[in-house]
Amino acid sequence: MNPHPRRSTRLTPGIAYVDGRYVPVSRAGVSIEDRGYQFADGVYEGIALRRGRLVDLEAHLDRLDRSLAELAIPAPMARGPLRQVLQQVVRRNRHRDGFVYVQVTRTAASRDHKYPDDLRPVLVVTVKRLNFDAVAARARKGVAAVTAPDQRWARCDIKSISLLPNVMAKQQAAEAGAFEAVMVDAGGTISEGSSTNIWLVDAGGTLRTRPLSANILCGITRQVVLKLADQAGLPVVEDGFTPAEARAGRELFLTSTTSAVTPIVSLDGTPIAAGRPGPVALDLLARYMDHMDTS
Ligand code: PDD
Repeated sequence: MNPHPRRSTRLTPGIAYVDGRYVPVSRAGVSIEDRGYQFADGVYEGIALRRGRLVDLEAHLDRLDRSLAELAIPAPMARGPLRQVLQQVVRRNRHRDGFVYVQVTRTAASRDHKYPDDLRPVLVVTVKRLNFDAVAARARKGVAAVTAPDQRWARCDIKSISLLPNVMAKQQAAEAGAFEAVMVDAGGTISEGSSTNIWLVDAGGTLRTRPLSANILCGITRQVVLKLADQAGLPVVEDGFTPAEARAGRELFLTSTTSAVTPIVSLDGTPIAAGRPGPVALDLLARYMDHMDTS
């Protein structure tokens, strides 16, 4: 029986892995006492599927292990079987290009804030179609962004499913007709996007992105792009910047699993440089698309 018949058109079509079983998403469910549902007590990963391959899979699984360890959530299974579950979900859905979502919540248990003694983590894996050729085409045109206050907690390095401030920031962007919200911390420095890392080619031509700390997510795309920039011989520093510096820069762009390397051509309605994607971002986009096929 479909428990959500009227909502099913909004769900990801296809087959999910849910706590030990492969089931149609429309019929999948977890306990109403899942701590993910009650406390956002869980972590996730998002992995690109490109031409049938999971891009940077091991880096994503390493980050998942780290997020779990930081929250003392046991791994739901060893890495070998987990890889097989991911491959199986991909195979059963017959996608070639897509986005694989992996979520682990601490357990289902009678509601009580402290961690229960007896944990049985709940693993959910879904995949949806995502056309990376279309992602690259959008990137070559560039996107608009707006600034928004960073209202998140002090452990943004953990890829937690608790994303309400990110969701609110993205909604603010959407209502302004923009693709992304660039979040600005209490000190006036750009932290990251609501679901992306942010980069600047500054007025002197140096590529800058905020250094890793508890205040941003260690993006896998960020790590790859740092390596690609190095290979391209670009001057790079891990150094934060303000919206004013961003507006005065040569290029602004964002990186993430679902948006690769995407130039930001306006910020709060003000064009960045010429209001067109710049050469550094376009070069890194081309290198990143190659990386997706070869990683
Ligand atoms: N976003 N910062 C935040 C807050 C994110 O949620 C994400 C990922 C990133 C980029 O990380 P990565 O390069 O590993 O995807 C940075 C999701 C998965 C996305 O939109 O792709």
